[in-house]
This record gives sequence, structure tokens and C-alpha cells, in this order.
Amino acid sequence: MLGVYFSGTGNTRHCIEVFVKELDKLAKCISIEDEEVIEKIDKNNFIVLGYPIYYSNSPKIVRDFILDNKESFKGKKIFIITTMGLFSGDGTGCSARLLTKYGAEIIGGLHLKMPDCIGDVKLLKKTLEENKNLVEQADEKIKKSSNSLKNGKATQDGLGIACHLVGLFGQRLWFYGKTKSYTDELKINLEKCNGCGSCVRLCPMGNLSMKNGQSISGQKCTMCYRCISNCPQQAITLIGKEVYEQCKIEKYI
Ligand SMILES: Cc1cc2nc3c(=O)[nH]c(=O)nc-3n(C[C@H](O)[C@H](O)[C@H](O)COP(=O)(O)O)c2cc1C
Ligand code: SF4
Ligand code: SF4
Repeated sequence: MLGVYFSGTGNTRHCIEVFVKELDKLAKCISIEDEEVIEKIDKNNFIVLGYPIYYSNSPKIVRDFILDNKESFKGKKIFIITTMGLFSGDGTGCSARLLTKYGAEIIGGLHLKMPDCIGDVKLLKKTLEENKNLVEQADEKIKKSSNSLKNGKATQDGLGIACHLVGLFGQRLWFYGKTKSYTDELKINLEKCNGCGSCVRLCPMGNLSMKNGQSISGQKCTMCYRCISNCPQQAITLIGKEVYEQCKIEKYI
């Protein structure tokens, strides 16, 4: 078994690690950003795949990863975990349909409510205590789901037709333009940027670079909020105009 995940601010990494450890203490987890990930997928028949939900869809970086490596998923048994702030409908279903098309067998799904990672929108913000409670509840749900899997009754969150309809009509259709491709809407406040280069090193897309000692953004942002959550100057925004919270799993566990 192998845990494979994409995680912008750490929620999904945490959930995959807890789930996989419940099933097999020796099994490893690896990010899709790791250069050894395909080699490791090729050596494992059972994959636990995890990603966050963006606008009731899977992140573009995850869809591209599946597409680029479809041969490696052929014939694999896959359990899908998605993390979300509020709601997704068929978060797991989005990639389950894709993976099934490429010859994988989906054995189950799990939806987990975690702290919202959109640090530049005030509306959805919770207190530290509330976020810690959310993570505890998610950990409990993970334990129950992994036990069900051990007993041969894998949870099926997000995989049925009803979930598909809710995800599609409840949200994805209205926001499809947001997740269809990468975005060029990331903003860097050059009055605040001190040129530390941290965002450039952290970006999973190589979307950021340094020019004249300051960071500039390209057109291939997958909206993961990692740079926004780690910039020491709070100089980066995407959906909103001001950083209210820098969301990282380390704060909640
Ligand atoms: C661009 C964007 C869109 C999001 N859309 C949704 C959404 O539609 N529904 C939801 O419940 N959470 C949504 N979220 C919240 C994340 O899914 C959630 O915080 C997730 O646990 C982050 O995981 P990570 O820390 O592994 O990146 C969104 C987050 C981002 C950055
Ligand atoms: S992390 Fe912030 S301060 Fe550092 S280079 Fe990037 S934008 Fe500038
Ligand atoms: S620019 Fe920032 S938000 Fe966009 S993909 Fe890179 S790290 Fe993530």
C-alpha cells in the first residue's frame, strides 16, 4: 500500500498519513510533487489517493497528474480521500470517474471536513479552537473508515450518482471556469515583498520566480494557497485582497 497526495497547506497530507498508518504502520506516503512518486506507484497495487477540493472539483495539478500518468494507474486498486472546508458533493467522484476510465478499480472514498485554507477571505474563518476540533473529528472519522476497510466494507463517500448530481449542480457547474485551467490571478504586493524567495521554493507549480529581487507570479497557479500561507510578509493574495489567516496544519495538531 502507498499513500499518494497533493496538499497545499497540509490538511490532506495529515489525513492521508493518519489513514495509511491505521491500515499499515510501515506503509509510506508520498506527495505527487516527489520525483520518485511514479516509480513508487508502479511498485504498489493498492493506492490511497488524497487531494483537497477546490470549487467542488479536484485541483488542476491533480487532474494533470492522473492524466500524465494514466498508464501507472491501470489495474490499481484505489481508495480516494478528499479534504474540504465545507462541502463538495462528489469530491472523490471527480477523480474516481477519471481513474476508472484509465483502468483503475475504485474501492472506496472518504470525505473529510478540515480547516478552510483560503486565508484571504474572512467569511469562512474559524477560531483556532474550532479548527483543532475539526481536525480531531476528522481523525475520528478516518479511524472509523479505515476499520470499515479492514472489515471489507469500504466507505463510499462521494462515489454514488446522487453525490455526482449534488456536486455538479450544487457547485461545480457554476464555478467550472475557476478550476478548468491554472490561474494567472495570484497577486504579490511589491511594497510588502522583501525578496526572501520562500514562495518561489515552495510553489508546486514553479509558478513563482524572482525578478529584481522580488517575487513575480506567472500564469500556472493551481490555487493551493501554500505561498500565501507561508509568506513572512503576508504579501500574497489570490481570491481576496488581504491575508486574514495563514492556514497550516501544524497550527491545528
Ligand atoms: C481555491 C480553493 C477552493 C476551495 N473550494 C472549496 C469547496 O468548493 N468546498 C469546500 O468545502 N472547501 C473548499 N476549499 C477548502 C479546501 O478544500 C480545504 O481547506 C482543504 O482541506 C485544503 O487542503 P490542503 O491543506 O491539503 O491543501 C477550497 C480551497 C481553495 C484553496
Ligand atoms: S515569500 Fe513573500 S516576502 Fe518572500 S519573496 Fe515571496 S512574496 Fe516576497
Ligand atoms: S503560486 Fe502559490 S497558490 Fe499558486 S500554485 Fe504556487 S504556491 Fe500554490
